[in-house]
Amino acid sequence: MTIGVFDSGLGGLTIVAAMLRRIHGVRIVYVADTANAPYGEKTPDQIRDFSIRVTEYLISHHRIDALVVACNTATSAAIEELRKRYGNLIIVGTEPGLKPAISHSLTKNVGVLATPATLGGEKYKSLVGMLSQHYRVRVFEQPCPGLVQQIESGETDTPKTHAMLEGWLAPMRAADVDTIVLGCTHYPLVKEAIERVMGRPIVFIDSAEGVTNRLLHLMELRGHANGGETSLALYATGAIEPAMVETILGKSFSVTVLNSLD
Ligand code: DGL
Repeated sequence: MTIGVFDSGLGGLTIVAAMLRRIHGVRIVYVADTANAPYGEKTPDQIRDFSIRVTEYLISHHRIDALVVACNTATSAAIEELRKRYGNLIIVGTEPGLKPAISHSLTKNVGVLATPATLGGEKYKSLVGMLSQHYRVRVFEQPCPGLVQQIESGETDTPKTHAMLEGWLAPMRAADVDTIVLGCTHYPLVKEAIERVMGRPIVFIDSAEGVTNRLLHLMELRGHANGGETSLALYATGAIEPAMVETILGKSFSVTVLNSLD
């Protein structure tokens, strides 16, 4: 099987890293849509258009069988439209793991870090609405505009990134938050910096294992045997910082920059 994976940038590779550990005998084709990044500060219509263009590219140039939307922001804005248009593909999206965070939290004060578009989206709002009816929990939501750009440029641990985190996390630290949802696939790359700013051990919830398990389950239903070599090809629609690929995947891979998705 061929699995297409996309994100606005390299953050979705945090999901590919989990896929490489669990899923065998497949071809993975990854597109970092850096020409249009960051998605999280665009309108839902724009994000939907970007997502459709990348998916069309993956279908026409790579004949994918499955699509992983390795981006919370694109999942929020576009997954319904993608499912409507491409009903024959296995499609797996990425959503903030608020429910597991609530079960892990001892203080019942949970933080959610995500892009402005994800936190403002209907999907997230209805998830919070539904969960807050069932659980006694305080949820601290924090959009992090600019953090994706810091991470894309390799600034995961610089004074500027720390200062940004300090401003966003101060209310969570004061409220004894012990569990933080990383609601953007880039944010696992600043886990250490977040924990340092919080000044206490934090349980982090990201979606990489959940997405991988769901994908593998759906592939096995279509007969995938999960054995053999896996290959990974990386493409970007604009500039990327190559050192970040190695930081995330533990090994360097070359990235082909596409002049166009046609
Ligand atoms: N990695 C994307 C996400 O999971 C974020 C991106 C962006 O703002 O470009 O939401």
